[in-house]
Amino acid sequence: MIAQSAVRLLLGVLVLCVGCTQVGVQVQSPTDTIQVLVAYHSLSGNTQIMAQNVAVGAQAIPGTRVLLYTVGEVTADLLFGSDALVVGSPVYWSNMSGEVKTFFDRWQFEFGVFPEFKMRNKVGAAFATGGQVSSGKELTMLTILAAMLGNQMIVVSHGGAFGASATTEGDSPGIDEAEKADARALGKRVAEVAWMIKRGQSH
Ligand SMILES: Cc1cc2nc3c(=O)[nH]c(=O)nc-3n(C[C@H](O)[C@H](O)[C@H](O)COP(=O)(O)O)c2cc1C
Repeated sequence: MIAQSAVRLLLGVLVLCVGCTQVGVQVQSPTDTIQVLVAYHSLSGNTQIMAQNVAVGAQAIPGTRVLLYTVGEVTADLLFGSDALVVGSPVYWSNMSGEVKTFFDRWQFEFGVFPEFKMRNKVGAAFATGGQVSSGKELTMLTILAAMLGNQMIVVSHGGAFGASATTEGDSPGIDEAEKADARALGKRVAEVAWMIKRGQSH
């Protein structure tokens, strides 16, 4: 009994695994912990900075385990073992990058998400970075959310109407403090809603 409580206490400790490359087999997180997976693609580092801030925001909610991976590193165990997923992409030609689209396609080709709808009722959210103002960030986030909705996930936003985003070129190079704050707010909201759902399930 005491040993069981100690294990539960340990699992409740906040874990932020930034730049993880390998994690053992994941099981569905216990009721006193939620797991938020932040998955992103980034070539020149902008989307990665947003991802790190999303992770920090999610970690602010006690009892939340946060995992940060590139989309190519995500395994079925990581995906299905998480209560929430936040996906970030650079804008490529006014849409998500090919790497992020391939990530969603792998859900079926590699992970077999359908017909059981294994992502059903998990919380989902999106973030994006784009070089120019009004050149595809909202569409990029919406197509990410559309893939999640098609998988019967519960999508949420914060930062902007569709998620957190940043303009990275021209007069607004890189990621500024307001954009980082939006990313943190998104991560925090995702963890809050994931907790609401988890608590609701335990009733
Ligand atoms: C192939 C390609 C296409 C792009 N298309 C767009 C675009 O349509 N709209 C836009 O605002 N930025 C576009 N960009 C700029 C990137 O979205 C922007 O630099 C982004 O912040 C890069 O993210 P990263 O640093 O995480 O790789 C494009 C960049 C590349 C390489």
